Order: sequence, then structure tokens, then C-alpha cells
Amino acid sequence: AMITLRQLLDHAAEQGYAVPAFNINNMEQGLAVMQAAQATESPVILQASRGARAYANDAVLAGLIAGFARAFPDIPVCMHLDHGNGLPTCATAIQNGFTSVMMDGSLMADGTTPADYAYNRDITARVVEMAHACGVSVEGELGVLGSLETGMGDQEDGHGATEKLSHDQLLTDPAEAERFVAETGVDALAVAMGTSHGAYKFTRKPDGDILAMQVIEDIHRRLPNTHLVMHGSSSVPEDLQQIINSYGGDIKPTWGVPVEEIQRGIKSGVRKVNIDTDNRLAMTAAIRRTLTTNPAEFDPRKYLKPAMELMSEVCKQRFEAFGTAGQA
Ligand code: G3H
Ligand code: 13P
Ligand code: NA
Ligand code: ZN
Repeated sequence: AMITLRQLLDHAAEQGYAVPAFNINNMEQGLAVMQAAQATESPVILQASRGARAYANDAVLAGLIAGFARAFPDIPVCMHLDHGNGLPTCATAIQNGFTSVMMDGSLMADGTTPADYAYNRDITARVVEMAHACGVSVEGELGVLGSLETGMGDQEDGHGATEKLSHDQLLTDPAEAERFVAETGVDALAVAMGTSHGAYKFTRKPDGDILAMQVIEDIHRRLPNTHLVMHGSSSVPEDLQQIINSYGGDIKPTWGVPVEEIQRGIKSGVRKVNIDTDNRLAMTAAIRRTLTTNPAEFDPRKYLKPAMELMSEVCKQRFEAFGTAGQA
């Protein structure tokens, strides 16, 4: 059954768990998440970026979601727009059956220029007004994602700022967060504390200097009833990097967000954890291995099935680690 982000995260807060939000672009990624949810009895957040909507077509995505809800009737499904950049994108997502939208006003609509507070507040408040009138939840974002090691704004996959940012811009200010939630009425708040999108987050295993989990604890102290969201939260597992590299890939040495740091966040109000890169790595690792091991194979199902299976394993591990398992 379909469920809003607010309904799902209110339950998560009551029970003290978080829900991983997995990005999907196609049937295989959606099925991998749903099969993992079924196996672990977990509620799910499926999220589609603007890029995913352009890739898959809104009508096709809407049909897929309806199909997942029918095929897995016991699993609560929240369909969320990831990184909406304005009112029209959020409105068309709602028209296509999304039960939750993100208005990311931390950047201007170009997706690269850091926005000022007033812009972010005004656009987010307008989206909240529209979405709530339709029974849809809203996630906002305050602070710019990016690396505390380099000072560079999020630069992965061509989205995000590429200019050098100050430490202050890369960390959500707790006092400002309190004001932002009061002035916009968002259902969930994404915060910045040193993570970035993609595989290249940290050049070493992160410590408190480059992954500032204490910021989340400070925000939670001021906003104990606000559902917090961590973006850029793939763990970039070394074993997946190794499979890719041993079957012809070229992933440079890199570190992601350790699962135990996310678990620390869950103790301080983190209720939604965005994960895309880990699933991309899993599917790519399985496809590279299958095609290299069976060079005569050309039936897509022969490599997409192992890809779904390895992605499903990653999803199951996150459902277990975040306490989502058993909550459906
Ligand atoms: O926001 C980041 C997600 O990983 C989605 O990426 O915009 O390439 O679909 P995308
Ligand atoms: P990763 O690139 O770490 O998987 O982050 C995904 C994300 O934040 C989507 O909004
Ligand atoms: Na999001
Ligand atoms: Zn994100």
C-alpha cells in the first residue's frame, strides 16, 4: 500500500529506526528493493531523481510503482521525488502519484549555485503549501552537500556546486535549522555534515573532522521532533569496489559513510537515509562479473538477474542495520 513520508517517518521516530531511501531508475532496481523489503518485512522509500524521471518516463514510473504496490501488498511504499528544484517539478511528481517530494532549495534551480536563506525558505514554504493541500509530504534541505576535506561543493555526476565553499556553508547551522523548520513546515529536513553524492566522498576512512556527525546531534537537541535526512549516505563497500576492479573496472580507492556512523545518526533523529551509489556499484559489479565469466552470454536476463540479486543483498543489509527490518 502507498504511504506518505510523514506517516512512515512518524512511525520510525516512535520505534527508533530509520528507513533507507533507495534511488530507482528502472524495473530491476525497483524489484531489487521490493524483494529485499519482502524478505526482511521492511517498509520502503523508493525515490526518483529528475534524471530518473527523464530516463524512465513519468507515466512508466507511475505504472511501475502501482505494480510494485500490487505485487507486494504487505509492504508500505512511499514514492518520493529526490532533489526537486522548483514548484513545477514537484507539482508534476504529485500528479504522477508520488506521495512525497523533496524541494531542495539549498541550491538555486540550476543545481550548482548555493542559495541564500530567504530563497530557500520562500520556495520550500510554497511547495509545502501546495503538497500538503494534496496530502503529500515534503522534505527540505538546509546547508550545501560537499567535502570538508577539499571544500568543494557536491560535484558528482554533474550535479551540485563545483566552486570552493566555506566550512560554514558545508555544515547546517542548528539555530538556522530551527528557524527553517518553523518557517516552512517541512515534514523532514535534510542536513549537511560533510557527505557528498557519488563514490568519491572521502580519501580516507572518515573521522569527526571530515564527517561531522556532531552537527546532527546539535540539530536534534534543538529539534527533537523533526525527522532528519542524511544524503550522500552510501558506504561504498570495499568488496564491491574490488569486484568491479577485478573484472575490468577502474574505481579509484575511496571511502563512503560507515554504517556505524549512520547508526549513530539514527540515535539522534535521522529517519531517512539516501542511498544510490552502493546499489549502482552492486549492479555494476554483478554485471561485470557475469559478462566476463560468461563471454558468450547475451540474454539481458542472464546478467540483470544477478545484478538484482546483489543489489537486493545490499538493500537487505541496510534494512537490518537501520532497524527497518520487521517494521512493515
Ligand atoms: O542525487 C543523487 C542521486 O544519486 C540521483 O542521481 O541525479 O544521477 O539520478 P541522478
Ligand atoms: P549516494 O551517492 O551516497 O548514494 O547518495 C544518494 C543521495 O543522497 C540521493 O539523494
Ligand atoms: Na531526497
Ligand atoms: Zn541527495
